[in-house]
Amino acid sequence: YECTLTLAIDGPAASGKSVVGREVARRLGIRFLDTGAMYRAITLASIQQGVAADDACKLSSLAACADMRLVTHSNGDRLLLNGDDITPRLRLAEVDASVSAVSAVSGVRTALVAQQRAIASDGSIVMCGRDIGTVVLPDASVKVFLTASAEVRAARRAAEMQQRQETFDTRQVLAALQRRDKIDRERDDSPLRPAADALVICSDHLTIEEVVCQILAEVSQC
Ligand code: CDP
Ligand code: CDP
Repeated sequence: YECTLTLAIDGPAASGKSVVGREVARRLGIRFLDTGAMYRAITLASIQQGVAADDACKLSSLAACADMRLVTHSNGDRLLLNGDDITPRLRLAEVDASVSAVSAVSGVRTALVAQQRAIASDGSIVMCGRDIGTVVLPDASVKVFLTASAEVRAARRAAEMQQRQETFDTRQVLAALQRRDKIDRERDDSPLRPAADALVICSDHLTIEEVVCQILAEVSQC
């Protein structure tokens, strides 16, 4: 007898969801899905096709028709959109700027949530995003809501950009992150908020390893 384990990890931008989620999944030997990449993919397609970020109708049909394939690789996962490997373009500044507006469109969410549930139905998984514990997988075995102060999160994002030798302005990184969080928290459909039964972890003073251990401890009790 083997039970299916589903872990929902939600939280604001750069709170550590993907780094922590990927490591937890690796240690448990189960799959990992970063749902943010799916919203970014639709946003990228909308930019490429000249669809405005407030055109709910066209955005919804874009999401409904998108053929998204996740390919797991040892050197990083790839996301194929209609056969194209768009992974390197998901973090472009243009995508960052409009992803929250695109993600607020209900028709976009309906299409992507259906795909996320279909993926989860195949077996154990760690899924991270904004609405996994509240909407996508309300019956998840373990729900975690990761937080950290906006300043700490912006500093961590800036450090990543520095490592990739990109030019950046720390104040702009902070402002962009806060702007995205505000839209994500205030939207009507599936706003960013902790599920009532989520374990809330603030990582301001925690290392990635400490966060991973807290989550694994929670998993071992379920
Ligand atoms: O990595 P980061 O936290 O900066 O962002 P992300 O997880 O890639 O998500 C990008 C955007 O997609 C978020 O700001 C949300 O607007 C949207 N999103 C969402 O609405 N629901 C999800 N389950 C995941 C992401
Ligand atoms: O997926 P999300 O946008 O929530 O964040 P992430 O990309 O997983 O993490 C953002 C950055 O913060 C990464 O560079 C992590 O290595 C770093 N981080 C950290 O330094 N300490 C933590 N406790 C968690 C994340």
